[in-house]
Amino acid sequence: MYTQSFNVPDTPGLRSVPLAPSTESAESQARFDNKIDADGKIEPQDWMPEAYRKTLVRQISQHAHSEIVGMLPEGNWISRAPSLKRKTILIAKVQDEGGHGLYLYSAAETLGTSRDQMLEGLHSGKAKYSSIFNYPTLNWADLGVVGWLVDGAAIMNQIPLCRCSYGPYARAMIRVCKEESFHQRQGYEALLVMMKGTVEQKAMVQDAVNRWWWKCLAMFGPPDADSPHSAQAMRWGIKRISNDDLRQKFVDATVPQAKVLGVTLPDPDLKWNEERQHHDYGQIDWDEFWSTVNGNGPCNKERLATRVKAHNDGQWVRDAALAYSRKRQTQAIKEAA
Ligand SMILES: [Fe+2]
Ligand SMILES: [Fe+2]
Repeated sequence: MYTQSFNVPDTPGLRSVPLAPSTESAESQARFDNKIDADGKIEPQDWMPEAYRKTLVRQISQHAHSEIVGMLPEGNWISRAPSLKRKTILIAKVQDEGGHGLYLYSAAETLGTSRDQMLEGLHSGKAKYSSIFNYPTLNWADLGVVGWLVDGAAIMNQIPLCRCSYGPYARAMIRVCKEESFHQRQGYEALLVMMKGTVEQKAMVQDAVNRWWWKCLAMFGPPDADSPHSAQAMRWGIKRISNDDLRQKFVDATVPQAKVLGVTLPDPDLKWNEERQHHDYGQIDWDEFWSTVNGNGPCNKERLATRVKAHNDGQWVRDAALAYSRKRQTQAIKEAA
């Protein structure tokens, strides 16, 4: 269903979504609302409010950008993986992330935006991607921790998206989540092996956990009280679980995993709260989070520069594919004549 679609210039005839009428008809709005209330799916050909479409374009394209930028910190380690087995696993994982980007760009394209527009937003720095990828992967233990915690947090965030009200996004997420689950397990397994190794290896794992833990908690986004768009996204069935609830689920799921692994999560306030039946945890440094989101993290510039270079280096591939596609079309027209 989510086929690779090379970009074509936007022309009015190619828009898959009819533009919302200037005075939104009450009837269309009511049909949309009823579908949302009945937990139905909105499909590309359905009428939708312009704000719903824009919210989805922003969210799905940011998600797609995060997938392809997320390839970069791990791609750096393909040549340095410690064994053939680890190299094979890492190549498969990085390739999966590229695939996730493609499903998601395709899902966003059904909303009438083009891949060129989305990539232009990413490459010019206007569009955001997940800030977690603006931190460096310093050693091999980081790769295990990225799988365990970063992909683990991504799964927590993404499973509810399989029930998102926009059909193409929800369907893309089903496959993405299956693959993310493999990513999380391979990371955890790599760490389990290291934790059975030398004192130095164990120290590397603990050091990586210390550096990534708080950043992973911030991946769920600002506290609910500071998330102005969340209520509307929940009303539209795009978001199903709030940022703080997802973060709590992640903490509760991760604490026992850390215990099995034999690492300490770097939070002195982390403890089980019998009354709430959840873990309490300490304060997240939101100043650091916003500073990184706003371009001042340790790797923001490097990530963007690498991404732009990769895109430019691939221009000849896109040109060749388009030329081939045009040739095939011309041939088909000639044969039909
Ligand atoms: Fe992914
Ligand atoms: Fe992943």
